[in-house]
Amino acid sequence: MSDWTDCLDFGISIAKQASETVLEAFLLQKEVQLKSSPADLVTETDQRVERILISAIRARFPLHRFIGEESVAAGEPCVLTDEPTWIIDPIDGTVNFVHRFPFVAISIAFTVNKQTEFGIVYSCVEDKLFHAQRGRGAFLNGEKLQASGQEDVSKCVVVTEIGAERDDLALSTMTSNILRLLQLPVHGVRALGTAAVDMCQVATGGADAYYHIGMHCWDIAASAIIVQEAGGVVMDTDGSDFDMMSRRVIAASSTSVANSIAQVVQAFPCRRDDEDPTRCVCGAAGVKGV
Ligand code: IPD
Ligand code: CA
Repeated sequence: MSDWTDCLDFGISIAKQASETVLEAFLLQKEVQLKSSPADLVTETDQRVERILISAIRARFPLHRFIGEESVAAGEPCVLTDEPTWIIDPIDGTVNFVHRFPFVAISIAFTVNKQTEFGIVYSCVEDKLFHAQRGRGAFLNGEKLQASGQEDVSKCVVVTEIGAERDDLALSTMTSNILRLLQLPVHGVRALGTAAVDMCQVATGGADAYYHIGMHCWDIAASAIIVQEAGGVVMDTDGSDFDMMSRRVIAASSTSVANSIAQVVQAFPCRRDDEDPTRCVCGAAGVKGV
């Protein structure tokens, strides 16, 4: 099973099955709870879909590990090891889901030795299934994907999000970054409300770039390999190598477009996804972790 195709096929089949739970609830009134901010939402369906996915995978692959958005929210560790690991966002675009804005996705990535072997993004309402396997290309509903190849940032459509952070520094950084992008200039800035689906637009060539700060590994791990396998590039917003735990990403049609975006966007401090939450990040001596 060295190419992990059986895991990919299984992941696709359970993503489709779990989407039925998302679609059944999509038009209904939801009970909403807040997590880290007033814009970081969770519903019973997020939690249920994650349970469905993890229990199905565990029954088939009992030794595999998991990083799931709602499991981490419930206190599970968010640590990527060399073991085969499924990185799961049961609903990417929970704000969309709550409001019935029709872009919500199940996002599943699979890593071995910390390298992503495949990614699956199922945009449930659109019935669009994106997937990519390392070295084997990226596909949308079985059709091969190709990023635009655009090299000139002034001819780009750039997708981004304000994100869920609502403190002053995050908000001012994200809004001023949109101004900086528009001043490059770019042809347009777009936002669909789900990092996974946003990033897949770069893989289709419908958008030329995506950048975001503050999202989590489960939002982007699957779509990163989909962009790469479609011929695009992913990097950190500081121009360094992509790191799914850093909470910063640029995905682009070409290295030159990614570099142009890296030169103008600014970051605000975010705790890494894999950072020990008991560790102090404020830099002030003697202050315990936040
Ligand atoms: C969010 C979405 C959103 C992005 C946020 C994410 P969630 O994920 O991907 O587009 O801007 O940063 O947290 O909470 O809907 O899974
Ligand atoms: Ca989610």
